[in-house]
Amino acid sequence: MSTYTLDTSTSRANPTPAPMRRLTVPKIRERKSADGKVDRPIVMLTAYTARMAQLLDPHCDLLLVGDSLGQVIYGLPTTVPVTLEMMCAHGAAVVRGSYHSVVAVDMPFGSYERSPAQAFDNAARILKETGAAAVKLEGGEAMAETVAFLVARGIPVIGHVGLTPQAVNVLGGYRARGRDDAEADKILADAKAVAEAGCFALVLEGVMEEIAIEATKMVACPTIGIGASAQCDGQVLVTEDMLGMFERTPRFVKRYDDLAARVGEAAAAYAAEVRARDFPTADQTYHPAT
Ligand code: KIV
Repeated sequence: MSTYTLDTSTSRANPTPAPMRRLTVPKIRERKSADGKVDRPIVMLTAYTARMAQLLDPHCDLLLVGDSLGQVIYGLPTTVPVTLEMMCAHGAAVVRGSYHSVVAVDMPFGSYERSPAQAFDNAARILKETGAAAVKLEGGEAMAETVAFLVARGIPVIGHVGLTPQAVNVLGGYRARGRDDAEADKILADAKAVAEAGCFALVLEGVMEEIAIEATKMVACPTIGIGASAQCDGQVLVTEDMLGMFERTPRFVKRYDDLAARVGEAAAAYAAEVRARDFPTADQTYHPAT
């Protein structure tokens, strides 16, 4: 059952009463013209919940329901254990909370690698159950046939090459990729393969800047960098990282706030008031005549 129908009445769940026209996949793809120019870089952030989607939506072109939710929301050690059910539940929440951005949902590890047919069944389920417009999947040359299969059957795809976190067990960690010529050539071949297979955008994660620049020049679709280069056609960050929700973040993350400290301070103030019986006050208390 789909649960993404918009309820536009003002409420705690839906504080924005006026839905606006949503961007589309072709509009994102068209941001990069035939001569390779992008006038307005593409802005993408991750979102996993309706409320965060509501807050980010007016500022973004794309909201990514990343499988990074495994670590950020569920406290898992990697993205490998993330399930299709988790992605569908959070994808639907983000669609419910957004009106403007294109919502793309990550295909979790194990849901697409076996065959194009497996990928189609699971990507179709994601689109049906969430209302999202696109999926993202990791991998280069090995995934090109699958990307072409999905796109030809009505499923827009964002590619993801370079550091591919679902392959952490093969890569042995999360170090930036492309430090030697062989690795750099492979990343470029991967980028070319999935772009030519029909991705409408391509995430370049954790690669040497030279590779990001070359890939951006080489592929027709917009590139979206994370730990890649300011020369990419857009940027993405994990929202909780840029909000300062974690003590340790990768070097490529810029912290735009320090929410962890502020949440701690708020919780400490609340705890002190509860213990001193200073909360609730008359303002937060009901009586029959009020
Ligand atoms: O899962 C995720 O959040 C991602 C981004 C980091 C690109 O894939």
